Amino acid sequence: MNHQDIYISLDIGSSSIKVLIGDITNNQLHVIGVGNVKSNGIRKGAIVDIDATVQAIRKAVDQAERMTGIKIDEVILGIPANQTTLQPVKGVVAVNSENREITDDDLERVIESAQVMSIPPERELVNLIPRQFIVDNLDEIKDPRGMIGIRLEMDATMITTSKTLVHNVLRCVERAGLKIREIYLQPLAAGFFALTEDEKNQGTAFIDLGGGSTTIAVFEDGLLTRTGVIPVGGEHITKDLSIVLKTPTEQAELIKKQFGHAFYDDASDDEIFEVPVSGTDVTDQYSQKFISEIIGVRLEEMFELVLDELARLGVRDLPGGVVLTGGVAQLEGIAQLARQVMQTRVRIYTPDYIGVREPAFTTAVGLIRYAHSEDEFYGRSPNQTPVYATIGAGSTPPKKQTNTTEKENNPNKPSVINRAKKLFDKFFE
Ligand SMILES: Nc1ncnc2c1ncn2[C@@H]1O[C@H](COP(=O)(O)OP(=O)(O)OP(=O)(O)O)[C@@H](O)[C@H]1O
Ligand SMILES: [Mg+2]
Repeated sequence: MNHQDIYISLDIGSSSIKVLIGDITNNQLHVIGVGNVKSNGIRKGAIVDIDATVQAIRKAVDQAERMTGIKIDEVILGIPANQTTLQPVKGVVAVNSENREITDDDLERVIESAQVMSIPPERELVNLIPRQFIVDNLDEIKDPRGMIGIRLEMDATMITTSKTLVHNVLRCVERAGLKIREIYLQPLAAGFFALTEDEKNQGTAFIDLGGGSTTIAVFEDGLLTRTGVIPVGGEHITKDLSIVLKTPTEQAELIKKQFGHAFYDDASDDEIFEVPVSGTDVTDQYSQKFISEIIGVRLEEMFELVLDELARLGVRDLPGGVVLTGGVAQLEGIAQLARQVMQTRVRIYTPDYIGVREPAFTTAVGLIRYAHSEDEFYGRSPNQTPVYATIGAGSTPPKKQTNTTEKENNPNKPSVINRAKKLFDKFFE
C-alpha cells in the first residue's frame, strides 16, 4: 500500500516568501503546491515590518492552498542564520528499562538532558543536532535504540539564535493564522540535502545567495559546524543595474533575470536589449556584455566578503569546495566567476523536483526533506505535534530503526481517516 504524507514548508526570505506543499509517497517527494510572493518588510533576512510580512505570508499561503485545495494549518518554518551560535553540548542519562534495552524514552531523555544547559535569557534554542551517541564506552553510534547498555550519552551541537529575531518570526507566522510544526535553521535543512555525503564529510562551504543576504554554512565530518551571514545579496545587483542603466528597480530586476550574466569573458556582445530610462519615454540599448561587468563587479565583491567571513570563521581549507544556491545562483556564469575569485571547486545546487527547479527554492525544499527524515527517524507522523529535538547525527539522513515497543505504544499513529479529514476540513467549515 502506498504511504502518503503531506508536508508544508515556509521560507520567509528578504526577496520573496515561499510556501511549498510536498507530498511524500513511498519516500518520494512531489511538490504539489507552490506559493511565491514578493516580500515586504524583511531586510537582510530580519523582519522589520510585521504587518507587511504577515500579509505576504498570507498571500503565499493562499496561492499554495488554491493550487491544491489543501488548507494550510501547520508549517515547517525556516529560521535565518543571522546571529546564530553553534556550540557543543553533552547529555547523559541512565538507561531506564529493566532489560537495559535503550528505547525511544531513553533517547528523548538524553536529548532533553543535553538541553538543560543554561541558555542566556536573550538567546533561544533553535535546534539540537546529535553528533554521536555513546552507550557505556562505545562511541560513534548513530542510533542507540535497541542496543543494551547502562549509560547513554549524547554529543550534540546546540544551535541558538537571538530571541528577538526568532520571536518576531514566530509573531508573523502566528498572526498569519498558522501553527508551527517544526523549526529548523535554514542552512541546516537546506545544506543537508544539497550537499553530497562526500561534500559534507570533506569540508564544504554551502553558500545561499539570497535577495538581501548571503548565508555561509560550513559542513565538516558530516555535520554543520559554522555559519555566517553577510548583508548583501541579489538586491544589491539590481540596485547597481538600476543606477547605472538609469532605469526603475523593477526594470533592472527583469533585465537582470532575463539577460544577466556574471562572467564578462563569456557574456555575449550580440545579445542586445532595450532599457526604459526613468522619468522619460526613451529607451537605451545595452548588451549582455555591458551589464555583465556591473553584475560581475558586485558579485566579485560578494565573493571576497564570503572569503573574509570564512577566514573569520576559522576555515582555512575547503577540500569539498563550494556549493552555491539561492536565487542569485541562477545567474549564468556565476560558477566561473566564483571559481576565479575563490580559487576552489564550485558547483550550483538546484532542487530537482518538478515545479521548484530553481535555486531560490532550495531552503523551502530542504525544510520538507529535513522534517521528513526526522519523522522517519523518530517514527512519528507529520500530523503529530513533535516533541523531539533535531536529529542529524552522522553523514546520512537518519533512518528509522524498527522498534516494536514504539510501534505498539504509539497512540498518535496517524490514521488515513484523520489525515483525509484534515485535508477536507476546509470544505466543512
Ligand atoms: N534568474 C535569475 N537571475 C539572477 N538573479 C535572480 C534570478 N532569479 C532570482 N534572482 C535573484 O535572487 C534573489 C532572490 O533569491 P532568494 O529567493 O533565494 O532570496 P530570499 O530567500 O528571498 O532572500 P534572503 O535569503 O536573502 O532572505 C533576488 O535578488 C532575485 O533578483
Ligand atoms: Mg533565502
